[in-house]
Amino acid sequence: MPSFFEQPDFDEHESVTFATDRRTKMRAIIAVHSTHLGPAAGGVRMFPYADSESAIKDVLRLSRGMSYKNAMAGLKLGGGKAVLIGNPRTDKTPELMYSLGNAIENLGGKYLAAEDVGMTLADMENIAKKTNHVFGRDPKLGFGGEPSPMTALGVFLSIEKAIEVKLGRKDLNGLKVAVQGAGAVGADLCRRLSQAGAKIFVCDTDKGRVAHAASISNGEIVDIDEIIGLDVDVFAPCAMGAIINDASIPNIKAPIICGAANNQLAEEKHGGELVKRDILYCPDYVVNAGGIINVAYEVGGNYSKEAVEKHVSNIPNTLENVLKEAISRNVSPAIVADEQAKRLIGR
Ligand code: NAI
Repeated sequence: MPSFFEQPDFDEHESVTFATDRRTKMRAIIAVHSTHLGPAAGGVRMFPYADSESAIKDVLRLSRGMSYKNAMAGLKLGGGKAVLIGNPRTDKTPELMYSLGNAIENLGGKYLAAEDVGMTLADMENIAKKTNHVFGRDPKLGFGGEPSPMTALGVFLSIEKAIEVKLGRKDLNGLKVAVQGAGAVGADLCRRLSQAGAKIFVCDTDKGRVAHAASISNGEIVDIDEIIGLDVDVFAPCAMGAIINDASIPNIKAPIICGAANNQLAEEKHGGELVKRDILYCPDYVVNAGGIINVAYEVGGNYSKEAVEKHVSNIPNTLENVLKEAISRNVSPAIVADEQAKRLIGR
C-alpha cells in the first residue's frame, strides 16, 4: 500500500479519523474532505469491507464526492463521509451505533452524519443518543425522514431538463424511459415519469420490487441484462455505480443518460466516450442531490417539505448550466460539473 498521503484517492482531505472501540468492536473511518462551505455532511455507510485498504479508498472517494455534490446543490455544507466496517445484517448492535455516535460527537460538529447504504432510521436514532450531529432522522420527531422521494423528484426534473436540451422537447408525453433498479428512488421515479406521460421499462434483481414499480407506472418489466441496450429516449440508472463502462457503452442506444445511481461512470474516460457517441450524460451528483438537500433542511432545525421541494426544483437550472457549457466546449458534462464544483469549494 502506498503511504497514506500518496494514495490516488487522497485529495488533501482536511482530516481522516480512524475510530475504534474495543468493547463494541467498532472500526470506523470518518473523512472530512472540505469544510470550505460549511460542516462536512455525508452519509454513514456500513459495509463488510474485505480489508481496511478498500474502506479507506471508499471513504476518501465518497467524501470528496459529497463536497462536489453539496457545493453544486447550493448548500452551505462541506463534504464528508463515514464508513463503518462490518456486516449490517449480522454485526449491528445498538451499542455499536452509540460508539459511532461518540466518535461523531468527538469531531465537534465538523462532520454531520446522515443515512447511507447499510443504515436505517433506527440506527440514526441510536447514533442520536450520543450526538446531535446526525440527520435523516425520524419524521415523527419533526425531522426529514426518508430522503429518496426528494432524490426521485430531482431526477425527474433533471430528465425533463435533459429532454429539453437534447431533444428540444418540453414534455415527456410518449417518450420511452428505461429505469435500472426499482428501489426507493427507482420506483418513485417510475411513478412520476408515467404520470407525466412517459412509457416505462423497468428492471430489478428483486422480483417483488420490480413488480411493484411496474404496477404503479403501468410499466413493462424487462430483463436486467437487456435494460441498458433498449431503444429508448432516456436511460435512468438507479441501481449501482460503474454501469457506464467499456462493455456497456457500445450497447447504449438512449441519447440521454440521467439517473440517481452514484458514480455511474466507471472511469473518467467514459464521459468522453459518451460525447463521441453523441450521448448526453447528466452528472450523477448534480442530478441526485435531492436527498442531501432534504437532509440539509434538517440541519437548521426547522425542516419544511415545501422549502426542500423549492430547493430541489433548482436542480434542473444547475444541470442546464452544466450541460450547455459542456455542449459548447464539446466535453463531457462530468468534467464541467467537477470544474464548477472545485471552484465553489475553492480548490
Ligand atoms: P435501493 O437499495 O432502495 O434500490 C436499489 C435497487 O437496485 C434495489 O431494488 C436492488 O435490488 C436493485 N439492483 C441491484 N442490482 C441490480 C442490477 N444489477 N440490476 C437491476 N437492479 C439492481 O436504493 P435507492 O435508495 O433507490 O438508491 C438507488 C441509487 O441511487 C443508489 O445507487 C444510491 O446510491 C443512489 N442514491 C440514492 C439516494 C437516496 O436518496 N436514496 C440519494 C443519492 C443517490
